[in-house]
Amino acid sequence: MTHKPLLAAVLGQKQPRPPIWIMRQAGRYLPEYRAIRARTKNFLELCYTPELATEVTLQPLRRFDLDAAILFSDILVVPDALGQPVRFEQGEGPVLEPVTPQTIASLKPERVLEHLAPVLETVRRLRAAMPAQKTLIGFCGSPWTVATYMIGGRGSSDQAAARLFALRYPQAFAALIDILVAASIEYLVAQLEAGADVVQLFESWALNLDDAAFEERVIAPNRRIVEGVRARVPNAPIIGFPRGAAGNLAQYAARTGVNALGLDYATPLDFAARHLPADLPVQGNLDPLRLVAGGPQLDERVEQIIAAFAGRPHIFNLGHGIVPETPIEHVARLVDRLKNR
Ligand code: CP3
Repeated sequence: MTHKPLLAAVLGQKQPRPPIWIMRQAGRYLPEYRAIRARTKNFLELCYTPELATEVTLQPLRRFDLDAAILFSDILVVPDALGQPVRFEQGEGPVLEPVTPQTIASLKPERVLEHLAPVLETVRRLRAAMPAQKTLIGFCGSPWTVATYMIGGRGSSDQAAARLFALRYPQAFAALIDILVAASIEYLVAQLEAGADVVQLFESWALNLDDAAFEERVIAPNRRIVEGVRARVPNAPIIGFPRGAAGNLAQYAARTGVNALGLDYATPLDFAARHLPADLPVQGNLDPLRLVAGGPQLDERVEQIIAAFAGRPHIFNLGHGIVPETPIEHVARLVDRLKNR
C-alpha cells in the first residue's frame, strides 16, 4: 500500500476524490517560472541546471495543492543527448538539424546517461525535497513522437516528413526506433532509480497514422519500453498518453501494458465505459482552453469528467498541456473545487 493518492490511482486503487496534476504544470503561465527562465541563456540550460530545474518543478506545488510534481525537463533532451543538438527558438519551438538515413548510425546511444546526468540529479533533489504524500512523475517522449522532431527538424501539424521517411526508408526508420527504445529504457530506469514514483510516456503525435502504422510506430515501441523498464524495475508504474489515438486507444491500452491511460480532450467521456476494461485507470481530460476561459463552461465540464470516470481509478488532468495564457486564478479554482466538493 502507498500513502501517495496519485500513485495509488495509477496502481489501480480508486481514491475518495480524483488526485490531480496538470500537464505542463511548470511553465510560462507562472510569473515565478518566467523569472527563473529569464536568468538562463536558453531553455535547455534550465533543464540541465539541477538547482533551477528543481526549483521550477516545485513552483506549481507551492502555489496549488496538486498531488504530483512532474520533473522539469523536455522530451527533446533525448535527441540532444544522442548527439543531435536541439535549440529552442523564441516563438518557434524546437529546431534540430534533421537526421537522414545516413546519419542515424552516428547517433551516440552510449553517451545518453552521461549527458542526462544533470536531469537525474534533479530527480534525486526532488525526491529529497518532496512531501511524502506527493507523487513524483518522471517521463520521456515515446519513440515515434521524438522521431517526428528528429526527422522533421521541427514541430509540424501533420508530421509528414517523418511519416514519409518511415515509409521510404523502413530499415533506417527501424534503426532509429531501436535507438530510441533502448535510450528511453535506460533513461526511465535511471529516473525510477533516482526516485521517480511513476513515469509517463508522452506520445503526443499518436495521430495521423493508419492502423498498420499505429501498430508499428506506436504500440510496438511503447510496449518494448514498458517491458524493458519492468525487466529492470519490476512492476514499474507507467502512464501512457497517446494523444490523438482515437480509435486505436483500446488497442494501445490492451497491448502496451501501461498501468494507466492518459486521454486527450477529444476522447468522448463515454469512451472508457464502452471500450476499456472496467478497472483500467484513466487520466484526463479537460480541454486546456476551458481553463483559459473559466466560468460555468469550466465548472460544468469538470463535473461531467469526474462523473464519467467515477466508477474507476481516475487521475484528473488536462487533455493536453496548459497554455501560457491561462489565468492563475482559474487553476487555483479548479484545484480547490476538486478538493472541496
Ligand atoms: O511541468 C511540466 O510538464 C514541465 C516539463 C515539460 C516540458 N515539456 C517543459 C517545456 C514536459 C513534460 C514537456 C513535454 C513535451 N515537450 C512534450 C509532450 C507534451 C505535449 O505538450 O505534447 C512535447 C511535444 C515537447 C516538445 C516541446 N518543448 C515543444 C514543441 C516546445 C515548444 C512549444 C512550447 O510549449 O513552448 C517545448 C518547449 C517547452 N518545454 C517549454 C517548457 C516549459 C517552453 C519553453 C520556455 O519556457 O522557453
